[in-house]
Amino acid sequence: MQSSDERTKVKSRNYDAVASFYEALANIYSFGLIRRAKMAELIHFKRGDRVLYLGAGSGEDAVAAARAGVDVTAIDLSARMIERLRRRMARKGLKAELIAGDALTLAPETLFDAVCGNYFFNVFGPDDMPVVLAKAATHVRPGGQLMIADMAPPSGLLGPLAWLYLKFGLTFFWLLGLASQHPIYDYRPHAARLGLVERAVHDHKLFGIGPALYRTLVFAKPEVSA
Ligand SMILES: C[S@@+](CC[C@H](N)C(=O)[O-])C[C@H]1O[C@@H](n2cnc3c(N)ncnc32)[C@H](O)[C@@H]1O
Repeated sequence: MQSSDERTKVKSRNYDAVASFYEALANIYSFGLIRRAKMAELIHFKRGDRVLYLGAGSGEDAVAAARAGVDVTAIDLSARMIERLRRRMARKGLKAELIAGDALTLAPETLFDAVCGNYFFNVFGPDDMPVVLAKAATHVRPGGQLMIADMAPPSGLLGPLAWLYLKFGLTFFWLLGLASQHPIYDYRPHAARLGLVERAVHDHKLFGIGPALYRTLVFAKPEVSA
């Protein structure tokens, strides 16, 4: 567990002000790739898995997981986001545990088969992100998975163009006070430092060509050896 000192240092951002349009805007801006990167996680779940969504927002991914028979828990600092997710689940006759609260102080009674942080870790600055990632990993059971859908670190000849495009979105949210300015994170070395093992990488490109703009990462937490 983090100490309360560490927790108060981490700067979170509440998306209440943009709850009514965040998801739609993200999907227009990304030509649907932001959604696709989240949905790529579904194939890694089994029916009955207990899955935790951190910074769930209005939760199109959490709804899809619940429809697929996953036992969903979702937390977001924004009560408006959680209310939208609650109404969405109810409309579809789905059940989930929904928490309006701080993911950094979450202390669940049992560990999860999978924990998903989708476009969540990039809300945090470079000093805070590894702390938040490490906290997320503590909620995964041994043998379980940590999944991240987020921006892909630009690479290749057209990498600078991808960087400009991604930085434009990040700067827009930074101007609204909803993101910190930071490099496009490569989560893989951070996950490796936490002892997580890379299991799958799904890259998402505009019209299937050029550099990856968004990426889905799936890590496994090793079983504890006897
Ligand atoms: C960029 S949005 C992503 C939302 C959603 N995962 C999606 O992909 O549409 C980040 C979300 O994290 C939430 N958030 C930020 N800090 C948080 C914290 N400490 N605990 C829980 N949620 C937090 C915000 O309120 C916001 O809804």
